[in-house]
Amino acid sequence: MKICVVGAGYVGLTLSVALASFGHDMICTDKDLKKIEQLKNGDIPFYEPGLLDALHHCGNLSFSSEVKSSMEECPVIFIAVGTPPRSDGSADTKALQSVISDLSEAIRSYKTIITKSTVPPGTNENIAKQLIASGVSENLFNIVSNPEFLREGNALYDMLHPDKTVIGVQEKDHVSAAIVKSIYKHIDTPYVVTSLAGAELIKYASNFFLAAKISFINEMARICEAYHSDISDISRAIGLDPRIGGHFLQAGIGYGGSCFPKDLQALQFAAQEKNTETYLLQAVQHINDTQLGLYIKKIKSFCDTLHGKKAAVLGISFKPHTDDIRNSQAVRMMERLTELGCHVHAYDPAAVLPEHLRQHVTQQSQAFDAIAESDFLFLATEWPEFLALDWKKAASIMKGRLVIDGRNVLKKELLEDCGLICTGVGRP
Ligand code: UGA
Repeated sequence: MKICVVGAGYVGLTLSVALASFGHDMICTDKDLKKIEQLKNGDIPFYEPGLLDALHHCGNLSFSSEVKSSMEECPVIFIAVGTPPRSDGSADTKALQSVISDLSEAIRSYKTIITKSTVPPGTNENIAKQLIASGVSENLFNIVSNPEFLREGNALYDMLHPDKTVIGVQEKDHVSAAIVKSIYKHIDTPYVVTSLAGAELIKYASNFFLAAKISFINEMARICEAYHSDISDISRAIGLDPRIGGHFLQAGIGYGGSCFPKDLQALQFAAQEKNTETYLLQAVQHINDTQLGLYIKKIKSFCDTLHGKKAAVLGISFKPHTDDIRNSQAVRMMERLTELGCHVHAYDPAAVLPEHLRQHVTQQSQAFDAIAESDFLFLATEWPEFLALDWKKAASIMKGRLVIDGRNVLKKELLEDCGLICTGVGRP
């Protein structure tokens, strides 16, 4: 099948590679000329394990910045453009609007238009209305909501092995679900076919629930701390109950990334627009927003003053296996430390510091260069190389003894054997 994908980000590019590997004839488009040039030259614009290699091995995938004409050529169009947050928390659908405007001119024959982007409930219904209002016959298209649940760092695997595939269709649409299923015929997955708004809400519900698990365990960690108990025992024990499940119960500095913070805000905005109260949604975000404060308090309890202290921060990205720093708690931690007068030296295997921190923070190209002479070390992102660090060597080159484990992943006894003091959250 000839398929056009609009948007060459994590979702759009991974989708293009995956569908090309199934034998579909793919055009991946983006208005960003630089991005398309890079892709045409066989490179990808972000770090995503395995994706570059897969791209090099798939035929029938071309790239184009001619979005409108590419859409014109294809009977199936996937929309995978970004929906970043506006300052009021609502989702900014500017990029999506631009695709709709191009689409209204590109529809000359029947199209199945499939939205992969995370969009507020009601958006896909509005897309249909907009297209009709701009003169496109309702017989010439169907809109489908097919949200994506991949994780950065595992994008291709998640795309090829989804735990479910959600298909939201318009009320009288009896054909699109079968078209989507035929596109994904090589994927073994249970299907949930629902309304457009149902599919849009499933995506938000999924991220809300996962973020809630993280805030739940972080609040429990605070209580554990008061009772000198170990949160990891609690995570393990409750996670063994299949009704709870063991994933996303790792206490630490909280969630970040381009999805959870944005999607929870957008869901809250969408609920408020319909005068619906959101108690849990607000609590989940509040816990996450206040989590870093606990760590600052902890560091202060060990150091008389932070002013002039050298801090080594390991990890810049919002999680391991990605160079994405959007809403990274590691970045926020560095902001807090520099505000308090610390000289921060950071290291990350893939990510680079954001522009606004480059004047205040020194990025080192080796972990030990960041650690040397530091008064304390903060582990912000659990990259495997930090877990396997030579702690004896770290202890020998640090000025201070304190290691703050922002992800509760280090072996405390091992560090203590090296003469270090290791503290996390909710760990005695
Ligand atoms: C998340 C969802 O997991 C995907 O299913 C979804 O498709 C994606 O958002 C999206 O909406 O596009 P992602 O943002 O790539 O994926 O990252 P996650 O692996 O979910 O991690 C999010 C944050 O939670 C990270 O900062 C991570 O460090 C943190 N986290 C995760 C914890 O603090 N504790 C945990 O136990 C798990």
